[in-house]
Amino acid sequence: MSSSSDPPIVCSLPRVTIIGAGRVGSTLAQRIAEKNLADVVLLDILEGMPQGLALDLTEARGIELHNRQIIGTNNYIDTSGSQIVVITAGIPRKPGMSRDDLLKTNAKIVVEAAKNAIAHSPNAIFIVVTNPLDVMTYLAWQATGLPRDRIMGMAGVLDSARFETFIALELGVLPADVKAMVLGSHGDLMVPLSRYATVNGIPVTELLDAATIERLVERTRNGGAEIVELMQTGGAFFAPASATSVMVESILLNQSRLLPVAVYLEGEYGLTDVVIGVPCRLGCGGIESVLELNLTDEETEALHTSAESVRQNIRRSQEILATTIKA
Ligand code: NAI
Ligand code: 2OP
Repeated sequence: MSSSSDPPIVCSLPRVTIIGAGRVGSTLAQRIAEKNLADVVLLDILEGMPQGLALDLTEARGIELHNRQIIGTNNYIDTSGSQIVVITAGIPRKPGMSRDDLLKTNAKIVVEAAKNAIAHSPNAIFIVVTNPLDVMTYLAWQATGLPRDRIMGMAGVLDSARFETFIALELGVLPADVKAMVLGSHGDLMVPLSRYATVNGIPVTELLDAATIERLVERTRNGGAEIVELMQTGGAFFAPASATSVMVESILLNQSRLLPVAVYLEGEYGLTDVVIGVPCRLGCGGIESVLELNLTDEETEALHTSAESVRQNIRRSQEILATTIKA
């Protein structure tokens, strides 16, 4: 029994803010709540939209048997004190839109979102999802001034899941039995590591011939575009939300999972001052360590080519941002 002189009991439940309540953001909110991981704040610029989604998700709580709070808002004040901030705000590339147009629009959105969010949750760990992923993560890292262990991008978990799916479909085995890792940038120059892919410990190189593996690698590289082409009205969001929720879970539950994560590199793999996907251990402090694998010369070259393309786009986005700020 508490007495009137006891300090009040403060129940501090973990809180995850998702900026951008579109398809990826709203599906991620659902995953986090239904896995009972944290309360969720969904923020969007569209008025009423995040509030409506939050109410809809709240009304499902009794059926889905969880009691997580889901708030929809247009105001960063409501995001205060979040443990994790996920940025999904932005636009996907549309027909007729140049890469520069996408960079320009999303760079401004991500930088603004990152600055607003860090002002209200100075201790948060950030996960960027907005494309182009590696460049946006770099800009968010700069905008927040966070140490690199507290800001990262999601792409490798999704790209690896796609590679694992295609291997499982080819072999007719359970997808959960397939483990693979995709490094590098999120795009055509990603680096799927075929020789590390296994089915319950058996290398896929023992199970599939080289031409088949190469076909699956190509399909993985084209994974996002394949879905856009089929849907015509937007991109993937179920698997991206699942992939992001795995990262959120590893951080909140301090699981120390080894996952491919887009991180600011400080000399690892011979790369500096660039964000790119490499294996990292994710725990309650964010990125606990970056694992340096022994890559072949060919894999190293592919990773460096991938990093160089990210670097060029970082420079381009910074020029665009500087022009926009002057104008
Ligand atoms: P969407 O269009 O459904 O949602 C984006 C949301 O952001 C919209 O609701 C929009 O109102 C909101 N928004 C725009 N400006 C904002 C601002 N300043 N503040 C707050 N919210 C703002 O798009 P979707 O499908 O959810 O994709 C979101 C982003 O994630 C895109 O850039 C997409 O390319 C990227 N993506 C990245 C993946 C990855 O593996 N890293 C996988 C899938 C998508
Ligand atoms: C995807 O890979 C477009 O980044 C998005 O599905």
